[in-house]
Amino acid sequence: MSLNEEYVDSLYGSDADLERVKAGLDAHGMPQISVSEGYGRLLTMLVRMSGASRLLEIGALGGYSGICLARGLQNGGSLLSLELLKPYADVAKRHMTDAGLGERVDYRVGDAKESLAALVHEGCQFDFFFIDADKEGYLAYLDYALQLAVPGAVIVADNILLRGRTTDETKQGPAVQAVRAFNARIATDKRLKSTVLPGYDGLAIAIVKG
Ligand SMILES: C[S@@+](CC[C@H](N)C(=O)[O-])C[C@H]1O[C@@H](n2cnc3c(N)ncnc32)[C@H](O)[C@@H]1O
Repeated sequence: MSLNEEYVDSLYGSDADLERVKAGLDAHGMPQISVSEGYGRLLTMLVRMSGASRLLEIGALGGYSGICLARGLQNGGSLLSLELLKPYADVAKRHMTDAGLGERVDYRVGDAKESLAALVHEGCQFDFFFIDADKEGYLAYLDYALQLAVPGAVIVADNILLRGRTTDETKQGPAVQAVRAFNARIATDKRLKSTVLPGYDGLAIAIVKG
């Protein structure tokens, strides 16, 4: 983390619900790869500012971003979270419940591409997407999000800088190449209006044009 990021995070008091998630990740032997604190706060703001009520998250882990997303909901609304691993979805659900948000979330367990194909088949629609699963899948997740989005929907994706690997030309692995392709699409796809924030590990934010 940069000094600026540390400084900004230090302005905020500790958050009991999110600290519980971090402790729970350790307790269950899960990786500490939740969204950064600053972008967690931003997720809450984006949901609230956009007035979104049908949220779709790809990659639940222990529920850190799920809490941030669901906190932005107003007057009802819900979060559907796609997670590969059932034990992770169970941990996330417990953390959401402990945060008083258990009623707001449902999980679909399995490969997100299969869950997304099923959601398209079922005719589901969403007005907010948070993409934060395997990086090789990012382009496919964006394509599915576009199929599932109502006009004006917000699409957010985390880790688009891959801790410096995205801009390191010596790195050419599948995850790096996939994220570079995703970033190029986010910036140029005519159906989207977007920006990319380079703080923390990089966050892409796009709106689906009406
Ligand atoms: C970076 S973590 C998500 C962090 C979470 N969004 C947060 O900030 O609290 C990535 C998650 O994606 C899940 N995942 C990886 N590949 C997946 C796939 N193909 N389908 C669904 N989930 C996947 C992992 O199991 C892991 O829980």
